[in-house]
Amino acid sequence: VVAHFQPKVLAGKKLLITAGPTYEAIDPVRGITNRSSGKMGFAIARAAAEAGAEVTLVAGPVHLPTPIGVRRIDVHSAREMLDAVMPLAAAHQVFVATAAVADWRPAQTQAHKIKKNAAPGQAQPPQLELAENPDILATVAALPHPPMCVGFAAESQDLIQHAREKRQRKNVPLIVANLGPATFGQDDNAITLVDARGERELSRADKLTLARELVREIAQRLTLYTA
Ligand code: CTP
Ligand code: CA
Repeated sequence: VVAHFQPKVLAGKKLLITAGPTYEAIDPVRGITNRSSGKMGFAIARAAAEAGAEVTLVAGPVHLPTPIGVRRIDVHSAREMLDAVMPLAAAHQVFVATAAVADWRPAQTQAHKIKKNAAPGQAQPPQLELAENPDILATVAALPHPPMCVGFAAESQDLIQHAREKRQRKNVPLIVANLGPATFGQDDNAITLVDARGERELSRADKLTLARELVREIAQRLTLYTA
């Protein structure tokens, strides 16, 4: 109930953000997905709107209300997410990729439910062939004049090492690293900012507090950023 009135550090800026998991259909009733509640992304969308930004949130399947003042586009698959993001990206000053995008999708989606059609234990399980999904963050970062890109890295081990590698591989100025699955679905989070100069750990806090800190950080960096 404090801090309803945040400094408008992103006034006049447009921020595009992805959040939640993606869902890749195997057949009409089954699919592949990632663990992600979307809470961190939605908190950042809210914090950015509070800070005066015009915010567009591209969300995978989540169970969260849209933050006040935020434009929301719902998608399911990684390819739908890419299709929503790409026409918008160049017109934004900031792109924040918090989505837990499924790295692979079934190479084919079956039009009808795959049936077992045999007594229990008698049939060969179907073999699932996978295809690689597009990397949305890397695709945006490779635009001729990309928005300032902020990536996330949820790792189960070697957090900083992986985050550094990701930052370079995707060619983005800032990666926000957090250790999952301990924080998945929780209301608080522990994050470390990883940039070209090094790392800075933020003290553990609830996701909205961290989101507001991150928004201030983004606003500061934006004043120095040139694509
Ligand atoms: N990301 C994305 N599109 C993908 C995969 C990842 O936009 N197809 C973004 C995520 O939103 C996140 C960052 O890239 O901001 C890192 O995602 P992550 O899954 O941690 O990295 P990957 O490169 O996919 O590597 P891995 O899953 O093997 O750790
Ligand atoms: Ca991944």
